[in-house]
Amino acid sequence: MPSELSPIDKAKFVAAKKATEYVKTGMKVGLGTGSTAAWLVQCLGEKVRNEGLRIKGVPTSSRTAQLAREVGIEVISLDEAKWLDLTIDGTDEYDGDLNLIKGGGGAHLQEKIVATASDQMIVIADPTKRVETLGAFPLPVEVIPFGWQTTKTLIEETLIGMDVLGQTTSLRMNGDAAFITDEGNHILDLHLNRIGNARQLSLVLNQIPGVVENGLFIDICDAVIIGYGDGRVEVNDINKGETVSSKFDFMDSGNLFSDDI
Ligand code: 5RP
Repeated sequence: MPSELSPIDKAKFVAAKKATEYVKTGMKVGLGTGSTAAWLVQCLGEKVRNEGLRIKGVPTSSRTAQLAREVGIEVISLDEAKWLDLTIDGTDEYDGDLNLIKGGGGAHLQEKIVATASDQMIVIADPTKRVETLGAFPLPVEVIPFGWQTTKTLIEETLIGMDVLGQTTSLRMNGDAAFITDEGNHILDLHLNRIGNARQLSLVLNQIPGVVENGLFIDICDAVIIGYGDGRVEVNDINKGETVSSKFDFMDSGNLFSDDI
């Protein structure tokens, strides 16, 4: 039951649960990647199985695709969907303008393509993800394996001229081997501490040969749903310029965790 979860997992769960209210029958929905997005996929699966919700889901990673199928969500590709009504995803950081750092799970390339191909992007998060200025979380940059060390050097040289506090970079590892994304690429994590001009940095990074995509999401997110461990939920909608609060009742959370799926 959700009430037996840690406070941080309860926060992720209630944010995900709230986000399902925005998903209506007939929608094509981008499904994010990560632990918070996994709660969303489970909650949507419950609505598909128990409440007759009919949606088509476009996953942003092989992990999410597998989970979505397991919980009963119809999975289609982005090319089949062409355009989406809504994408719901987690984040590693968000600021007051709802700009994001994503890619902690290594899926920001597909996540950015899918979110950009959506009428609306909603981010679900726990309160630890809110920052004044982006950059404490290392910025993921997906690079092709060919010449990745040269690309790394070019990135480091570029960072010298940027408004950032740190300039070191590291190749993301998976045990003893380089991490490989779903697209067969590597990830460089940029330890910047503080990003003064995220829009400029995003544009400049994507000009470097070998860089496929960086994890800055600028002007893509429309609303953030923040869940708290005590069940409180806040919806911060940047277009409406309002934050609406509500509270989730854990006693009323249905049979999400007792279902056979
Ligand atoms: C994956 C992501 C995730 O959304 C981000 O890492 C947040 O993950 P979590 O919900 O597990 O904290 O960008 O590429």
